[in-house]
Amino acid sequence: MQKIKNKKLRFLILFPLDILLTLLGILYYKFFKKNHNIFYQSMVRLFCITGGKSNKYINLLTSNKDKLNIEQNNIHNDKIENIVKKIHDNGYFVYDDFLSSDECDDILSFCINSELNIRPNDLKNWSDKIEKTYFNQDNVKAVMYEMPKNKVLFKKNLSDIIFNSEILLICEKYFNGKPIFDHSSLSISTSYSDKPDKKAAQLFHFDLDRPKWLKFLIYVSDVDNHNGPHAFVEGTHKDKGINSYILANGYDRTPDEIVSKYYKDKIKNFIKKKGTLIIEDTRGLHKGTVLKSGFRCLLNIQFNSSNYGTKIEKQEIKAEYVDNKIYSQNKYTYQNLIIK
Ligand SMILES: [Fe+2]
Repeated sequence: MQKIKNKKLRFLILFPLDILLTLLGILYYKFFKKNHNIFYQSMVRLFCITGGKSNKYINLLTSNKDKLNIEQNNIHNDKIENIVKKIHDNGYFVYDDFLSSDECDDILSFCINSELNIRPNDLKNWSDKIEKTYFNQDNVKAVMYEMPKNKVLFKKNLSDIIFNSEILLICEKYFNGKPIFDHSSLSISTSYSDKPDKKAAQLFHFDLDRPKWLKFLIYVSDVDNHNGPHAFVEGTHKDKGINSYILANGYDRTPDEIVSKYYKDKIKNFIKKKGTLIIEDTRGLHKGTVLKSGFRCLLNIQFNSSNYGTKIEKQEIKAEYVDNKIYSQNKYTYQNLIIK
């Protein structure tokens, strides 16, 4: 308790300096198109002390208010508006059958037939050289297996999703401006450990790499109570949505007991079949539940309203999988891609 009070006091003392640093950071970003960790740390402290309100102003000053250049074809405005309204109200929207069962099986076999990076568990030193191995359900060696970042978009039906008009329009509406593709990851979580793993995001936390963003989480395998349903605390994506006691602890993981104490009826566990897309504003509290058995394959795609925040790490995509029409008319949106 005393430790948390001290942290809050530190945030308060640094508040004027953090405003100044953030203004400098925004100028640095605008002139040099770069980020620096000093400015990012200020953004995090301001978020914690203002209950998230500071992000609104940083977003206003760093985002692009123009419209995308895409054809809506048969996508109805009402549908996009309804989805975005639900994300505004609750922090998430569940889109059933976004991918077909066959598409999911194809992505899963791509995952199983590729060498993956393994995340051992909290007990091992994560700064050690990343190990690579194949996923074998009968001989599990880690809490999480991840597709190397630059291989994810070397699969056609995965790269297609980042050019999906519906996803782009949802982002445009939610950000009230042009979205920017941030990254895409593909992973398999396992029941290797029965304790929540911090780095595999199995404890409640909020994301905070940018001022505003949306995550598109797609279940590639069926998810029930046993194989790690994604969990989200409804409403915590709003300003002052996260309890000030939790925020006073800074940008850290929060134990289940504390989240249950403040948000007993608001915790949503997404038990859904493969192909389900969960669109989520992950500035709200969320986690992947610890697996009791089996495995969970998840595709994670993020779009931001701006590149301000942490260092940008671009992602490679195979040239033949780029949707040339959408790409050529929306280069701003795909500035974080390297075409190979
Ligand atoms: Fe997260």
